Amino acid sequence: MTDSPTRQTGADAPNPLRDPRDRRLPLIAGPSSMVMFGVTGDLARKKLLPAIYDLTHRGLLPPSFGLVGFGRRDWSHDDFAEYVRKSVSEHSRTGFDESVFEQLRGGLRFVTGTFDDTAAFETLTEVVGELDRTRSTGGNHAFYLSIPPDAFPTVLSQLADSGLNSAENGSWRRAVIEKPFGHDLASARALNDVVEKAFRPEEVFRIDHYLGKETVQNILALRFSNQLYEPLWNANYVDHVQITMAEDIGIGSRAGYYDGIGTARDVIQNHLLQLLALTAMEEPVTFRASDLRAEKEKVLSAVELPEDLASHTSRGQYVGGWQGGEEVRPYLEEDGIPADSTTETFAAMRLDIATRRWAGVPFYLRAGKRLGRRVTEIAVVFKQAPFLPFRSTDTADLGQNAIVIRVQPDEGVTMRFGSKVPGTQMEVRDVTMDFAYGMNFTEESPEAYERLILDMLLGDPPLFPRQKEVELSWKILDPITEYWEQNLDPAPYRPGTWGPDTAHEMLARDGRTWRRP
Ligand code: BG6
Repeated sequence: MTDSPTRQTGADAPNPLRDPRDRRLPLIAGPSSMVMFGVTGDLARKKLLPAIYDLTHRGLLPPSFGLVGFGRRDWSHDDFAEYVRKSVSEHSRTGFDESVFEQLRGGLRFVTGTFDDTAAFETLTEVVGELDRTRSTGGNHAFYLSIPPDAFPTVLSQLADSGLNSAENGSWRRAVIEKPFGHDLASARALNDVVEKAFRPEEVFRIDHYLGKETVQNILALRFSNQLYEPLWNANYVDHVQITMAEDIGIGSRAGYYDGIGTARDVIQNHLLQLLALTAMEEPVTFRASDLRAEKEKVLSAVELPEDLASHTSRGQYVGGWQGGEEVRPYLEEDGIPADSTTETFAAMRLDIATRRWAGVPFYLRAGKRLGRRVTEIAVVFKQAPFLPFRSTDTADLGQNAIVIRVQPDEGVTMRFGSKVPGTQMEVRDVTMDFAYGMNFTEESPEAYERLILDMLLGDPPLFPRQKEVELSWKILDPITEYWEQNLDPAPYRPGTWGPDTAHEMLARDGRTWRRP
């Protein structure tokens, strides 16, 4: 999170929403470089390299920034530069500009090697030293691990053995790690032990890219900078909360990653539980990392699972059918998926939060692939007014009031409330009032990765979950995935729908229905 120009770095940097000196001056990362492992992967090509280019374009990286790719390809620095050029010209948000690219290009380097190749790490050490000398990167280097977790131990021990992990003379070294942070609590702890053998906790930046999204940060602004919402944001007024992350795409070419992982581990353990935490947490004392994380952790610790997991969770897998005018394959016939896979592509669950604020207010979470459309939203649905002085026929169409935070697409906030229908009768019907980012602001939202990479280079940690949050999230999820693996195969659902029947039955049992986003 941004703070004053004379910024402190580290876990207790000043709070942007409270610091009166903050004039919204853009903060520019200091002298530094980033070494990227997994640079030829999809994430790097489509998101990370374009984000670095976009930050360069916005003038938020130092002109001397260094970017080192590390990988098996037998590439020269120039070959790597061509690869970066292609990636950013196809995927950058701010548009390709030759002069911006030339600035970035000056700092591009490539080191060929496998992760277990000690000589390649010696070369990497030389390259990093060369950047310090020729581009004044000041000994400040970030190591971005966009690689499968089973490769972590090798890369991290190579970084430690070569001394690349240790900073000298006031400079910094940081490790950036991408999810999955394990596949359950035990593996998350084991992974963390490996990470913390090479880097201290404050040097580790765990990426949950949802926290980099403008609309997700706006949950905090909406709740804690207004008088309007917070008095209602509790069990006295809220009936339930629905958090939806729907995608219309299938698993594409990600069989290797996705199969055996499934929706709950892929996005509920991280993105959706983070959204739940931000929606449900108490106001932090400040927005410093330690205070913000402590409040999120309190909520996650208070989450309770339903006693009957069979009737309050739902697990689905898409079958073949039609979506958007196109015939699509069943999950079991996607490339690389075993024909008997029981991996879920849809997951839903009811969670309760045992606190005074939320007692009796269910939080329903659902996520899935090949659903009706791409949409992520948080809907806070209110109880009915305690008394309606109108004839029941006049309010027959009235639903419950709701505040819907539209995370994406069409970012904004919608309020639903009853209003009189024009005419002589007192008929009341639901209407909506909309705030849309696109209509209210001229600035375009940066990509989540722009924000997160910049924050990491600035050493500003509030938007990065710490290990405790990761562990608490696995503690919530582990009993559900264990139950599923032993007792509940995924139910089929057709592409373009909103999941299997069991998801609808789950809410119907509680006398509720899912919103149609
Ligand atoms: C990733 C998941 O974390 O988020 C993917 O691994 C998913 O399965 C992606 O498609 C969705 O991200 P976004 O930003 O498009 O909502």
